[in-house]
Parts: sequence; structure tokens; C-alpha cells
Amino acid sequence: AAASSTAFTQTQLPPLKVGLMLPATGTFAALGDMIERGFKLHVEEQGGKLGGRTIQYFKVDDESDPSKATDNVNKLIKRDNVDVIVGTVHSGVALAMARAAKDSNTMLIVPNAGADAITGPQCAPNIFRSSFSNWQPGYATGVVAAGKGYKRAMTITWNYAAGNETVKGFTEAFEKGGGKVIKDLSLPFPGVEFQPLLTEIASQKPDVVFAFFAGGGAVKFVKDYDAAGLKKSIPLVGSGFLTDGTLEAQGASAQGLITALHYGDNIETPRNTAFRNKFAVTYKVNPDVYALQGYDAAQMLAIGLATVKGDLGKKDALYAAMNKAQIDSPRGKFTLSPQRNPTQDFYVREVKGNYNVVTGIAVKALADPGRGCKP
Ligand code: PHB
Repeated sequence: AAASSTAFTQTQLPPLKVGLMLPATGTFAALGDMIERGFKLHVEEQGGKLGGRTIQYFKVDDESDPSKATDNVNKLIKRDNVDVIVGTVHSGVALAMARAAKDSNTMLIVPNAGADAITGPQCAPNIFRSSFSNWQPGYATGVVAAGKGYKRAMTITWNYAAGNETVKGFTEAFEKGGGKVIKDLSLPFPGVEFQPLLTEIASQKPDVVFAFFAGGGAVKFVKDYDAAGLKKSIPLVGSGFLTDGTLEAQGASAQGLITALHYGDNIETPRNTAFRNKFAVTYKVNPDVYALQGYDAAQMLAIGLATVKGDLGKKDALYAAMNKAQIDSPRGKFTLSPQRNPTQDFYVREVKGNYNVVTGIAVKALADPGRGCKP
């Protein structure tokens, strides 16, 4: 009889098991979806194989719920026995994932969550990030706001690692640039009861407001800020998540907003144009920063696996190849810091229609300080 088409010859390796732990529900659901699409797009560009191995996906909806994170990641590590974990969006969930990845020595690529500790005190040779540290976009936005001459700022965010660390980065750069943060406002994640906080902003009348929100929460915040009459009187700036993947839903309320981020829709390089066209043709929707980060997570994995020809047992060579790679990202080429976080340019962007249009560079080659990582 003919050999089964699923049989392996002796030189063939079994499929590589990739565990996708992303939010499929809640305020970050759309972000998780875009990360998965970006990741799979690059795998498809490689003919569906990385390092000669086909990919088998395992999926867990993490619900952006830190209290379920350890159980959820162990479904991938212990039950499914995955080779690589890709995830997630929420910093609190990602911190639990990093602990489990470190303890089990499972490779983890973080395609969004910025928790500073992941490439700081909790760093490990098997943990990589294709996105940013929370400090980075906060710091870049602080540079932009100080550069505009604003002196008195208020900040507003969700009270959790990403919000607090982003505000810290903003404050560091804004005060270094001669400004002063007069008050920090926050509400619990993923709350959207912004009214009392907007009332306080109206009464304090700062020169500028810095906000970190993302996903569904960012849509509501930008609309509420406008509806409260504040958009006309007090400039609103944010790390670019405030207006990324959200513009169709935000409509007129987002027009003209200035943000800083490591991506912009109209970066006019052949690399970005090709990425955007391919993504749009494949999924009938334009990519955003989350799609980009998923795509680059796959690029990083592809580089490592190509070097070891799909043999994950060669961990030293695999990690070394990823560490020293220059990633040809649609955002612009980037490298990884010694703590394995992208060192990358941060752009100034302005909302025009449904696009975050790059108008300048906020900070070139911004490296996370990587404080507390003992490599
Ligand atoms: C985070 O929790 O780290 C986070 C979530 C959404 C973003 C950015 C950071 O857009």
C-alpha cells in the first residue's frame, strides 16, 4: 500500500507546536485577533514552515484576566506540550506567562504586553519581545509633549502595570524636558467610567493630558473626552495605542490627535508597503500596530529556527541567532537589546481620517534601560 501522507521520513521533524495565548474576548479582543493574523501571515509567506517544520497551532483565550493566567498558560505548557508560546496583550497576564516560561524553560515571544519586568528583573534567555517595553512609548510621548512647550500635565490610565509604567516613562521624559506632571488619575482595568475623571481634568485645566488606553477602552475614552468638550480646550496626547486599531470607531473624536509609537500607517518603505498590501489582500482589513507585532514575532522565530534547521534542542544557537538578528520589520529595521527587547525608532503620528500619519521622529533608536535584568 502507498505510504500514509502523514508519515515522516527519518530526516523530517514533526510539526512545531506553537501556543497562541491571546485575548479573544473583552476590551483587547480585537488586538489579539490582529496579532494572530500578523503572525500567521508571515508563516504563510514562509510557505507554512519555519526551519523546515510545519506549524501546529494551539490556542487559549486569556480573557486579559491575570487571575486565570497561570492556569491558562499551563494548558499550553503542560497539557499541549507546546514548543513555543506566543502571547499576550495584557501586561498582568504576560507577567504570569513569563514566570511559567522561565520555570519550564519554554520559549516565549511576547507580541505586545509591555510589562517592564519581562525584559528587566524577570528576564530569561528564552524570553523575547517583538513589541516594546511600557517605558518606551511613554518616554517617547513625554519627549513630544515637552517639545511642544506644555508645562503642566495630567495623566489618566487604567491602574495596572501597563498604565502605571507608561505614565512613569511619560513623566520621566516630560519633567526632564522642563514640564511637571501635576496629577495622575486612574481607574481599574478595564473600566470605562471616565466621567468623574474628566470633570476633574476640566477643573484643573492642565496644559496637556497624557492618556494610556487601548482597544475598546481607548475608543470610549477618546469619544468621551470629545463629548465632554475637552478636545477643544485641553490637548490630549497618548502613547499611540490610544488611536491604533480604533480609528473607524472613534471617528471625528480622534481627528488631529498626536501620539508617539514605534509604528505608523504611512511609513513609505517598500517593506511596509508590501506588508500592508499583503495583509489587506489576505484579511480584507488594514493592519495596525498589533498585526505588525505579531508579524515580527513570527519573523524572529523564523530567523532562530532557520539557524538551527528546526532543531529546538540547539537552544544556545537558537537564542543567539535571535539575539543578534536585525529584524527587517515594516516599522523599520530593529535589533534586540541585551535584555531581548526591541531597540527601535519612535514616531510622532497625527490622526488623519482612518490613519495614524507619521509627521516626524520622537526618539531615534530608543532602547529600554533593561533595569534589573541579570543576563
Ligand atoms: C499592556 O497591558 O501591556 C498593553 C495592552 C494594550 C496595549 C499596550 C500595552 O495597547
